Amino acid sequence: MWIVGCGKMAGAMVEGWRRAGFDLGQAIAIRPSGTPVDGIRTLRELPEAGTPAFVLLGVKPQKLDEVAPSLDKRMDSNAILVSILAGVELKSLRARFPAAGHIVRAMPNLPVSEGRGIIATFDDQSHDARSVTNDLFAALGIVVRTNSEAELAAIGSLAGAGPAYVARFIAALAKAGTERGLDPALADRLALETVLGSATMAAARDEDMESIVRRVASPNGTTEAGLNVLDAGLDNLVARTLEAASRRGAELAAAARIE
Ligand SMILES: NC(=O)c1ccc[n+]([C@@H]2O[C@H](COP(=O)([O-])OP(=O)(O)OC[C@H]3O[C@@H](n4cnc5c(N)ncnc54)[C@H](OP(=O)(O)O)[C@@H]3O)[C@@H](O)[C@H]2O)c1
Repeated sequence: MWIVGCGKMAGAMVEGWRRAGFDLGQAIAIRPSGTPVDGIRTLRELPEAGTPAFVLLGVKPQKLDEVAPSLDKRMDSNAILVSILAGVELKSLRARFPAAGHIVRAMPNLPVSEGRGIIATFDDQSHDARSVTNDLFAALGIVVRTNSEAELAAIGSLAGAGPAYVARFIAALAKAGTERGLDPALADRLALETVLGSATMAAARDEDMESIVRRVASPNGTTEAGLNVLDAGLDNLVARTLEAASRRGAELAAAARIE
């Protein structure tokens, strides 16, 4: 396995595979800084010899044209290329990697490092590639196989970007608690545990969100007073947030197209 570009996201996948007990003895991470990646050999450039069976492409979309020509030369018809690049479509990847046997797009999110991620995929319908990627992805969390790149993009704007949005909500909860006089460290911990506890409970009980709301908020009570404020703007704010992320994804897709 060659991991071409092993920063925050591909690095989190490596962490998830290590946590799941995968043997990464044959894996190589390639990153210009040479910053070591725990548990795998790290190089600044592609190795001088060899052909990868599996490539995880983890660079930024803007770096695609920098890495593609030399990487494509190293692949053969057995090679599986998995791209985690936001936006960049299968057709744009195929145009740059004509030598790769199979190309799969994957949209992971950061909790893959804990085995609690989401990996949405879209591929060129090759079942050979699927059997290999299935095992790799399943170790990282929930795998969602999509039927269109539009669906992949929608999942990217919700789940790919989602950890950042959830982190902002937790931070806002903590900040508001601090403003109510709580010690900042305590407020941080309470906000995190409240979100973690609520999500854990909802998942364990298979409970829908409205039911949780109703179990906390009694008519004319304190929580309902808070909800009256939150409900006035939250849906719209979150919808506009995902819309903006989708728009940026469409721009990245357009920039990577080769007509
Ligand atoms: N972050 C997320 O939550 C997330 C979620 C879903 C998808 N993605 C996708 O994941 C990709 C990477 O994002 P990221 O957040 O992980 O960014 P990042 O931390 O900046 O990682 C980019 C990596 O690319 C490497 N790189 C740059 N130029 C290169 C070259 N010429 N050859 C080989 N490697 C090169 C960098 O090397 P150095 O480490 O040496 O600088 C770094 O390891 C993006 O395409 C993004 O759309 C990210």
